[in-house]
Amino acid sequence: MEFLPEPFRTKTVERIQLLPYEQRRQKLVLAHYNVFKIAAEDIFIDLLTDSGTSAMSDNQWAGMMIGDESYAGCRNYYTFENTIRDITGYKNIIPVHQGRVAENLLFTNILKEGDYVPSNTHFDTTRANIEHQKADAVDLIIDEGKDPESEFEFKGNIDLNKVEDFIRKVGPDNIPLGMMTVTNNAGGGQPISLANIKAYSELLNKHGIPLYLDACRFAENCYFIKHQEKEYKDWSVRKIANEMFKYASGCTMSAKKDGLANIGGFLATNDDRLAVKITNMLILIEGFPTYGGMAGRDLEVVARGLVEGLDDDYLQYRIEQVKCFGEMLQEAGIPIMKPPGGHAIFVNVNSFLPGFPREKYPGWALSVAMYREGGVRASEVGSIMRGRQSDGAEKYPEMELLRLAVPRRVYSMSQLQYVVSIFRKIKDNKKLVKSLRIKWQAPVMRHFTIELEEIS
Ligand code: F0G
Repeated sequence: MEFLPEPFRTKTVERIQLLPYEQRRQKLVLAHYNVFKIAAEDIFIDLLTDSGTSAMSDNQWAGMMIGDESYAGCRNYYTFENTIRDITGYKNIIPVHQGRVAENLLFTNILKEGDYVPSNTHFDTTRANIEHQKADAVDLIIDEGKDPESEFEFKGNIDLNKVEDFIRKVGPDNIPLGMMTVTNNAGGGQPISLANIKAYSELLNKHGIPLYLDACRFAENCYFIKHQEKEYKDWSVRKIANEMFKYASGCTMSAKKDGLANIGGFLATNDDRLAVKITNMLILIEGFPTYGGMAGRDLEVVARGLVEGLDDDYLQYRIEQVKCFGEMLQEAGIPIMKPPGGHAIFVNVNSFLPGFPREKYPGWALSVAMYREGGVRASEVGSIMRGRQSDGAEKYPEMELLRLAVPRRVYSMSQLQYVVSIFRKIKDNKKLVKSLRIKWQAPVMRHFTIELEEIS
């Protein structure tokens, strides 16, 4: 496998270590077989998330030194605002400390009980914030998006027929906004075509419904558009981003992803009246409108990160690295959700471990085995994270996945090759993956705190 050379060199390094096998085994016992409960310094390669885990550039570190920590009107806010306005075109730019606060502010001010919010696939925090308003978060992804074998290039697209039927069924008055997650994290990090965003926006607007983008990974999405949607092949990614944002009235953004920052985010909207309401609430729960829960230096880091995140060389390296990782896994015979997404590879656990009973949590069991065998941390997106108790019985999601999220600018290809070698070891000896039983669980977001034990 040929790799693209990284378009950066290393200036600072951070030591990581692989604990001996016996210690890893003990750490799992102490963590009750929940990798979320293992201290990060006991992990060798951490693929739990791509969120807030990016390596900053020298340019971003330098930006921290010009952080202006004034309460009101710090200079970095203006850089932040101008940068985001330049990329998105939106009028009101409201800083928040991370994406879910933007969601909370938006939905608290726009939804009422009984409303509906359609999307391709809502991310967990988006869904939880909608449901917190006693409204319904509805996923209307195209069928290809649910088929791990489909090689369709835009598997994150929303099904426009389903949207049309849905609007007719519940009535436009009960849909205060439509959402679209770019790229579609919960559906495998798959991209959405500009044609689909445009058609969805037109359909919503015909009924007077505004569209908001969940724009966490907008730059990665726009890279896919450039390379997979013919009309845009000669456009810069930045110009495509500009065009994409035009079809929406605003966006929520966690800058912990394509903002290449360790913390930060924003809510942007063209709706001035809504912006006033949101800003009032921002003051109540986050901070003054020119910092919104961030330090001046963090605002600067996000502004610089957003520009770097749209750089063509960076994006090519980024998307190619994840793609290469996916191809290496496939060559090793590990079934993955196809094609590789923008920020993560999702291992198709049902087909990797056929016959492993769902009620013994195969995806979670694989995450345990990856840590024990190689000090690798990954997160289950399956029976534990997405499973639900209903009528006293467990209901399992269709797909059982293990997400290998790739932090930006952090791991080398040889480190990812090492991860593949651990999968190969498990593939050759599937007994390394042991059945699990739940000992204790919380009623919501149980994956963060759940405690389990091995039963074989
Ligand atoms: N929307 C999407 C699509 C996300 O992936 C996330 C976070 C959020 C919203 C919330 O942003 O964490 O800054 O509050 N995703 C992380 C992940 C947690 O691991 O995928 P946040």
